[in-house]
Amino acid sequence: MKLLDVSGLQVFFEVGGQIFPVVDKIELTLSEGECFVIAGESGSGKSAFAMSLLGILPQNARVRGAILFKGKSLLEFDAKSMRAVRGSGIGYVPQSSSTSLNPVLRIGTQFHHVLRHSLNGAESSKAVTRILQDLGLDDSVALMYPHQLSEGIKGRLLVGLVACLDPMLIIADEPTKGLDTHSKEGILRIFERRVTQRGRSLIMITHDLDVAAWLPGRLGIMYAGEIVEWGPVPVVLGDDCCHPYTLGFLRSLPERDFIPIPGSCVGLLERHTGCRFANRCSRADAVCKRQHPELRRVCEDHWVRCFHA
Ligand SMILES: Nc1ncnc2c1ncn2[C@@H]1O[C@H](COP(=O)(O)OP(=O)(O)O)[C@@H](O)[C@H]1O
Ligand code: SF4
Ligand SMILES: [Mg+2]
Repeated sequence: MKLLDVSGLQVFFEVGGQIFPVVDKIELTLSEGECFVIAGESGSGKSAFAMSLLGILPQNARVRGAILFKGKSLLEFDAKSMRAVRGSGIGYVPQSSSTSLNPVLRIGTQFHHVLRHSLNGAESSKAVTRILQDLGLDDSVALMYPHQLSEGIKGRLLVGLVACLDPMLIIADEPTKGLDTHSKEGILRIFERRVTQRGRSLIMITHDLDVAAWLPGRLGIMYAGEIVEWGPVPVVLGDDCCHPYTLGFLRSLPERDFIPIPGSCVGLLERHTGCRFANRCSRADAVCKRQHPELRRVCEDHWVRCFHA
């Protein structure tokens, strides 16, 4: 049995009586010890997808499809059952994670609260020291309150806290954004150890190709609410990557050529016909404008949503 099995997942937002589709027909399975990285430009629906898995979308959201976690259908869970899944089943590092720490408790106390179920006092203190080291932080941080720390440090600490809960799956939404190389590596070491040593699973949303390249697993590229290409990380980041959007997205990143894709993403209400990238794609033809491409297998474990790739 797969740890996570998502099929036909759609997310809509209802605004002023109109329905806006933001995530469309996502298919994703994840086994224990597997890692899936999602990348794509802002507004492509990455956070909406992550939040739909945890049942924490805003009130105006509607979700369709199926999300099975350990074989159980999360979309049929009530609020109490969903709360039981969050934390030890699925841990979440939100996009704006720095406000998620308890403002009235010292950092060390917050870690001890999480660790006290599995470790005694001395072991817990050692574990906190090691986690702080991994995060590139000094021991003295344990004595501080969140308001005494920078946003970046608070974000890093939340990653450490979520990892301490030891969930079977962590969903991390851009946890390394804005961090220096040293801090980034600390966070990645925590994630990597969880995946390779403890057999835990990870869904990581990131714009950072170094982060994607570090993690073992598959990479999915999202555009206008859809996954347009996915496959093993080295394939999608390497010479075999073939979707015109993926090629343009990779070229647009500062660590590559820094050349933006011309034009702008199709509007939320204009996504019903044709390929969603057609208005920006130099290879678009009449078929692309008329028909919607489905994901097709290019080779073993490498899929692409394009008629001509
Ligand atoms: N509560 C909301 N109501 C209406 N639209 C929303 C809401 N939250 C996000 N959106 C829209 O949904 C789309 C996807 O947003 P998001 O998932 O945050 O994208 P990403 O994480 O890829 O940047 C965007 O067009 C965004 O404006
Ligand atoms: S289907 Fe056509 S428009 Fe869409 S990405 Fe492929 S070539 Fe471009
Ligand atoms: Mg986001």
